[in-house]
Order: sequence, then structure tokens, then C-alpha cells
Amino acid sequence: MGWFRPNIEQMQGYAPGEQPQERGFIKLNTNESPYPPTPAVLRALRAAATKDVRLYPDPMANAVRRAASEVFGLPVGRILAGNGSDDLLTMILRAVVGPGRTLAYPVPTYTLYRTLAQIENARAREVPFPPDFRLPRGLFRRGDAATIVANPNSPTGTAVSNAELSRLARAIGGLLVVDEAYADFADEHALSLVERHRNVIVLRTFSKSFSLCGVRLGLAFAREEVIEGLAKVKDSYNVNRFAIAAGVAALKDIEAMRANAQRIRATRRRLARALEDMGWRPLPSQSNFLFARAPKGAGYTAGEMYRALKARRVLVRYFDAPGLDDGLRITIGNDREIDALLRHMKTIAASRAG
Ligand SMILES: Cc1ncc(COP(=O)(O)O)c(C=O)c1O
Repeated sequence: MGWFRPNIEQMQGYAPGEQPQERGFIKLNTNESPYPPTPAVLRALRAAATKDVRLYPDPMANAVRRAASEVFGLPVGRILAGNGSDDLLTMILRAVVGPGRTLAYPVPTYTLYRTLAQIENARAREVPFPPDFRLPRGLFRRGDAATIVANPNSPTGTAVSNAELSRLARAIGGLLVVDEAYADFADEHALSLVERHRNVIVLRTFSKSFSLCGVRLGLAFAREEVIEGLAKVKDSYNVNRFAIAAGVAALKDIEAMRANAQRIRATRRRLARALEDMGWRPLPSQSNFLFARAPKGAGYTAGEMYRALKARRVLVRYFDAPGLDDGLRITIGNDREIDALLRHMKTIAASRAG
């Protein structure tokens, strides 16, 4: 072809999890919430469907920044809104990491980081996690333009402490991005690091805990000078009117989100115990999903279980990659969905035994 830049010709492109277009699947593969947004959020979305959609939205989504400032206690100038946290990650890569610069991150993790580095023609320095999923020593190095830690991490669900993140922020010369897509399901979060370190950006999303994957809204928290730098490279109207309306309503209704996150944590504990009873080995999860390794010598592999579940219209995530291909990542659904998953898994396991 030759139309594209060489790095674009060569790259694979990000492969999102399956989004089946037919109904009838139990969908436990892309970490969506099993619970709907609150009635107030749905009302705000409907109320935003007015003739005003002929007008561009506020370029800085200030209504969302103000609502976030009240909830999280940081000044508006330290907050930036994006079209999902993916959009904020794109801005960070665009502004900070380019040709001749390096993006570092521990692996396995969210594979979009590699894709974004490839798009920018930057070098990706992938440092393997140790078996206990603490931060790898090799990350603590100067010379990287930016370092990203998904915390809690995907697809493992594991988390590192704020103390570790603080040490990392001090050890590196570049920016530290703490991607907190799953922080509402965890014991700890890193927003206080923005106050303590000039080089920390914390990312949040409305996709998971606020049940708004389909709306696309994320937030970045950082020092004013970092926010101003990122705003220079963003799309002019990156957050649409519906996302602004839903985001403001969701932040005003924050207790409803917290209640759903608690329900998901309770179901996570139940699923972990049930999987252990079946011989699976779940990693300790701080997220709205569990990564569990298949039992050894059970007569089936994780990949076979994934395919057998899919045939029964239950979708979980299988990664055909070293270090991950012996397990499944299972999103925490509602109780009915998790009961169905376990029933199918037991039937499939019984049919392969012996
Ligand atoms: C670690 C991590 N960061 C970011 C995202 C994307 O979030 P958003 O929907 O806000 O773009 C995901 C989604 O799966 C994720 O796992």
C-alpha cells in the first residue's frame, strides 16, 4: 500500500473484546457493569436531547469538572475530561511520548498502551511483573518520558499500594500515569498522589463503576501545568453534550455508584470462593473482574473452557498470550449471571472429567 507511515503499516491495531451484536449472551468479557445507570442519570440523558444539540458542547466540559471538583476535593484546574479514559491516554501519549521517547509500563496489562506507543512511533519498554504482581524493579529508572501503571491492573485484577506508587513517582524522571479505571472496586486509590507529586496523573473512568461504558467519559487529575499541556492536544470538543449531562448527574448520585461497587465486591468474593472450590486459582482481585487460572490435570484447558462457555452463550475473556493463556478473565456480573456461569462451568468440567 504505502499510504501510511511505516509504523502504522506495521502495527496490528488494538483488538477490543468481543461485542456481540445479537442479544442473549451473558456478557462477562469487557468489564462492563451488570447494573444500569441510576434513574437520575437516565433522566439527565433524556433531558439533554433538545434542539441545543445543534450547538457544539463546552470545549472543556466545565460542568463535569466542577461536579468532579466537589466530589473529589481537587480544584477545577487540576481536572480534565475526556471521551473515556482512552481519550485521555491518547492525549498523554500525543503530548508526552513521541519518536525517540519511551513509554514504560509493567506487563501483562491493558494492551492499548502498546498500541498508543506504536501510533506515536515511540518506544514501548515493557517490564514483566514479578509473580507476586508488585511493581517490577526495572520500572524504577530514569529516562522514560512516561510510565503507566494500571492500578488495579487488567487483566490480573491485582493492585499495588500508594506507598509503592509514591516511590515510583520519586524514582522516575518523567510522568507517572496511574490508570485507575477500576479504583472504585479497590481498598485504596491514588488521588492524594496528585497533591504530593508534580509528575503524577490519575485517570478515572465513568465506564465501569458508574455503568456508563456506552456514553464515554473519563477524568484526568494532575497539577495545573500538566492539565494545561494535555488540553493543548485534545480534540476541540472531545466530550459531547450527553456525556456532560450524564457525568454531572452521575457525580451528584455518587452514593448509588458506591452501593453498586459494594455489591460487585460482594459478588467478587462469592465467585472467587466458588472458583476455588472447583480447583481454579483466582488472583487476589481489587477490580470488577477476576483472573483465574484453570485447574491442572482437569481434562480441559482455559482456552477450551472459554470456547465451551461461548458455545453456551456465556462470554468471558481469554488471552492467547504467554503467562495468561492458562486462565480466564471473568467480569463480575449480577448474582443471576454468576450463578449461570458457575452452572455452565460445572457442567462443562463434568463432561471433560475422567
Ligand atoms: C486499565 C484500563 N484503562 C482504561 C480503560 C478504558 O476505559 P474507558 O472506557 O474510559 O475508555 C480500560 C477498559 O477496559 C481499562 O481496562
